[in-house]
Amino acid sequence: MITTAAIADIRAQVKAWRTKGETIAFVPTMGNLHQGHITLVQQAREKADHVVVSIFVNPMQFGQNEDLDAYPRTLEQDSKALIAAGAELLFTPTPEIIYPKGLAQQTYVDVPEIGDELCGASRPGHFRGVATIVNKLFNIVQPDMALFGKKDFQQLLVIKTMVEDLSLPIDIIGIDTIREPSGLAMSSRNGYLTAQEKINAAALKQALDDMAASIKQGVDLDTATQTAQQSLLAARFTPDYLELRNAYNLKPATDEDKELVIVAAAYIGKARLIDNLTFIR
Ligand code: PAF
Repeated sequence: MITTAAIADIRAQVKAWRTKGETIAFVPTMGNLHQGHITLVQQAREKADHVVVSIFVNPMQFGQNEDLDAYPRTLEQDSKALIAAGAELLFTPTPEIIYPKGLAQQTYVDVPEIGDELCGASRPGHFRGVATIVNKLFNIVQPDMALFGKKDFQQLLVIKTMVEDLSLPIDIIGIDTIREPSGLAMSSRNGYLTAQEKINAAALKQALDDMAASIKQGVDLDTATQTAQQSLLAARFTPDYLELRNAYNLKPATDEDKELVIVAAAYIGKARLIDNLTFIR
């Protein structure tokens, strides 16, 4: 695997592959890789001739009081896992390479509406940061396709919307969430949990499963939501949001909507965890 922080190196390698008519799949990450990321790389390997991965802890998507400095940087361990998974090119730019004029001077991409609520409301500017970096990385790597985990359900829809709105010729592929045996969705932020918090954190997925089952049985939304909130509180979560939405556009679910998603974010210990569950009514 070639590892480089230089945009020119990425462009040269990708151009060499393209000249031979070969396809490129891209997996953007912030590093501290877990099985969820590795699955993205393995899936990418099956879908394209070459796999490019980026590791960049993007300052633009962190709020002022968030965990930018604490975010784990584990390049050596990540590189070994990427080689084993079949990645061939790893882009590891610095903030100075990506944002040479600084964040305040940076042109940005805003995805309206879908980027403004749920996590966008709790973390103002977060999806502007995500859309901007993903757009920049797409312009640097110029892949045929890019793979993202469905755990970040809203992020996936924001990126799909951006790609459609800006007519980017890139296929966006969502890959199912990889979970611990307890049901806890794999996330780099699980590393912030104590052993006891990790046990309690399984209650998040359980709450989503129970809420979906109640809704399917005809329990009214308020009651189903309150029951789920109570089970999160009992597991020592502080819920941020827990909502039933349309699975395609993330608008609040109506009685006519059949394909639904429950989206949730909740704090436990030092971590803010998110999860979701899609289902058909
Ligand atoms: O999901 C992530 O790890 C990040 O939000 C992403 C897509 C790599 C952009 O920084």
